[in-house]
Amino acid sequence: MATQLLFPTRVYAAPLLASDDGTLHARLVEECRQLEHDDRAGRVWSKANYPGGYTSYGSANRMHRLSPTFATLEKHLAPHIRAFARDLEFDLRGRRLRMTDCWVNIMRRQVQHSLHLHPLSTLSGTYYVRVPRNAPGLKVEDPRLDRQMGAPPRLATATIENRPWVTLAAKPGHLVLFESWLRHEVPANPSRSARISISFNYSWF
Ligand code: NI
Repeated sequence: MATQLLFPTRVYAAPLLASDDGTLHARLVEECRQLEHDDRAGRVWSKANYPGGYTSYGSANRMHRLSPTFATLEKHLAPHIRAFARDLEFDLRGRRLRMTDCWVNIMRRQVQHSLHLHPLSTLSGTYYVRVPRNAPGLKVEDPRLDRQMGAPPRLATATIENRPWVTLAAKPGHLVLFESWLRHEVPANPSRSARISISFNYSWF
């Protein structure tokens, strides 16, 4: 092949557990709902910053330290983080990737989360707790988009690696990982049922 692929943007998607009896997942569903109920500060923060939805991002954002269930989630995420870091060929210089933040998001009907990055982190990702039918996945954007002002558009049939936006599927029990500089958004949830997810950041220490 005369054409090579350089500077790829890697994303990682996998089921959290190879074999799953559903116990951890069920506990996470319950705790996400309970947290919204108990976290008054978070509900107030969400009212101002996450209209129509609930997030513990501004209140309970180290859930892996607060809840043994979330600590178990962190334990099961670890091999995925290691695998992704290997794929990215990170030279961590003797340091380790550690979870710094972990928070809950509950998106009701028409709630959306517009384009953003996760500054000051290395890897970010989400574990999907509850995703109603038709609820959106995670839309990621080509990080070079702002340099493509004069570039021709891509064919509607373009392969996934040549598209400026790609939506990664959000499947309950599955996770996605990406480098924290990758801009992403969650389009509005058209469903009457809530879309529930747990997001997290890792840094290298
Ligand atoms: Ni995000």
